Order: sequence, then C-alpha cells, then structure tokens
Amino acid sequence: MAKKVLVSGGAGYIGSHVTVELIGAGYDVVVADNMSNCDMTCFEGVKKITGREDIPFYQIDCCDYEAVDKLFAEHKIDAVIHFAAFKAVGESVAKPIMYYRNNLVSFLNILEASKNHGGCNVLFSSSATVYGEAENLPVTEQTPRLPATSPYGNTKQMCEDILRDVVLATAGGADGQGVVKGIALRYFNPIGAHPSALIGELPRGVPNNLVPFITQTAIGKRECLSIFGNDYPTEDGTCLRDYIDIVDLAKAHVAAVSRMLDGKMKQDYEIFNVGTGRPVSVYELVTAFEKVNGLKLNYKFAPRRPGDVVAIWADTKLANEELGWKAERTVGETLASAWAWERHLAGK
Ligand code: WQD
Repeated sequence: MAKKVLVSGGAGYIGSHVTVELIGAGYDVVVADNMSNCDMTCFEGVKKITGREDIPFYQIDCCDYEAVDKLFAEHKIDAVIHFAAFKAVGESVAKPIMYYRNNLVSFLNILEASKNHGGCNVLFSSSATVYGEAENLPVTEQTPRLPATSPYGNTKQMCEDILRDVVLATAGGADGQGVVKGIALRYFNPIGAHPSALIGELPRGVPNNLVPFITQTAIGKRECLSIFGNDYPTEDGTCLRDYIDIVDLAKAHVAAVSRMLDGKMKQDYEIFNVGTGRPVSVYELVTAFEKVNGLKLNYKFAPRRPGDVVAIWADTKLANEELGWKAERTVGETLASAWAWERHLAGK
C-alpha cells in the first residue's frame, strides 16, 4: 500500500509543488491548509496537473489541536511535511507574538498529534536564513547558525531544535511510544513555477521577494524594480544568492521523505541544504530574466535594504550524496517558468 504523507500548508507555493511531486512518485497525500496566505488557485492547479480530483483536503489551522488530532485519527500518516507557517521577515519584526504563536504552536501540534497516533516521520521546512551572514562560503550543514535577526528566522531555528529534541526523546524511548525521525531542509532562495504554469507563487500585495517583483514589473503591475544596493563587495556590487528552482526543491522533499520511509537515514535527525551551489547576483538574475524572456525590465538601483546579507550560497555535497538529489533546471528555465506563471495569472 502506498505510504501516506500529510503536507501541512500544502496549498501554498512550495507545498503545492511538493504535493505534485509526491503524487508523481506514488505517495498518497493529504493536504491541510488554513488558506491564510493563499487561495484555491494552486490546489486546483495541483488537481489538474496530477489528474487527481480526490486528494483529501482539510481546511484547518494547525494551531487548532483538535482539528489536527482529528486528521490524524482519520488517516494513518506515515510522514508529515510541515510548511504551515508565516514567512514574511519584515512582518515578523512588526508582529512577533503572532509569528511565534503561529509558527511554534502549529508545529508543536503536528508533533504532538503524531506522537499521540503512534508516531511518524517529520520533515521540517527550514531556511538558509539560519546561517545569517556566514563568514565562510559556501555554507555547509556544519556552518554554525548565527543568532536570528528576525522572529521569522528565530522560529526556523527554534523549530529545528524542537524537532531535534523530539526525535532524540522518542529515539531514546523517553517520550512515549511513537517513533519519530526528522529531517530539516534548509532552503536557499526558491524561485520559479511548475512548467505547466498551473501553479506558482501568489504573493499577497506588494511582493517582498525578488522574482515575483520582477515578474509583476514585467507584466505592468509594478512600475519599476528597485535593485537594493549596488555597492556591495561583490563583482557587480549587488547581493549574491543561491536561487533554487521550485520543482527541483520539491523533488528534494520526495528524496528526503523516501529516505525517512525507506529506513535509509544515518541519524535519527538530519539536516540538508537545498540549493544549487551556485551564487547568482541580483543584477545577473535581472539580466538573465530579460534575456531568456526577450524583454526589457524597468529597473533602477536603490539603497541597500536593511537586514540583507551580502552573499550566501549552499554547499550541496551532502544533499547530492545522501539524498541522491541534485538541482537540475537552469536559472534560465526557471525564470522562463516564473514569467509563464505571471502571464497565466494575467490571462495572457
Ligand atoms: C533576494 C535579493 C534583495 C526584492 C528571503 C528570506 C528568506 C527566505 C526567502 C522566505 C536580495 C534583492 C529583492 C527587490 C531587490 N524565506 N531584492 N529588489 O532576502 O534573500 O530571502 O526570502 O520566505 O528567509 O529572508 O530573498 O527575494 O527578498 O531577495 O533588489 O524588490 O534580491 O536585496 O539581495 P532573501 P529576496
């Protein structure tokens, strides 16, 4: 019988792509989402891409323990991929209580329900933000985490630690009967959309992230892209990031879930960087977008954005070797998919 994976936050940007790849790999998937930061567009897209109208969907808030418990009672869950969290760095600085409550309580509820229903494997969606402004690049999983500079970043660090502690307790038999193994995936900068252009990123209001701002400028929804800072100590003066294609990222989740479910983990709690290993500057990304899509983007250089690190990219050796996973799509392909998605949204 196919193993069953719960994807919390499964109607969102990353969750919808992961759901597609899980189903493609033969898993049964249950989606839970409170729809606080998305609408049904992506979930409908998932159904179209997979041809599956029958994906169980729970519109629940994972902060509601009763609702999570009921889901676990109705499905024998083998693994959870936990995305259900708020993710805007700036907003988290303004609303720390809301961020801590939502991101911590929802994760604790997932872990608790899992334990109360016999235990399961848990994959947590973490972030390269845990490395802060790293001294040595690229960062490996051993690179020390730095104190978080936002409540959002702090919740990523805290949830990593919570998962590690829960895994250790259950592995040592100290915390009840449930067997829990855990993996944290540290994403670099996820961008792009599914090649079908049926699912992609749906930012609410003015996008904070670079690629949705680029595509919205190209389509005419925004007047001009500001490139934040061109006086950084990099070749062209703009920041360096590791932009990871969303479908490649989704496939890393399938590899990690299979590793857990097939008993291939070397430790009960493992961490993997999920990136390409290639630094790309903001300016390079903008010019690549123009080139691959054959258009001119209205952009200007603007002052640095407070809180940005100069450069970060991944050492991907561990993920490549242990997960047997590697980023495959080129930046050009990814940027073409982001543009196709924006045009799909605009009906063009
Ligand atoms: C990338 C680069 C900007 C917008 C954040 C979170 C991280 C993760 C992904 C969340 C930077 C520049 C951006 C614009 C610009 N988590 N930029 N003009 O800041 O690397 O990472 O998103 O969901 O935790 O911190 O991503 O896309 O915002 O910025 O010049 O209008 O693009 O300065 O150098 P970031 P980003």
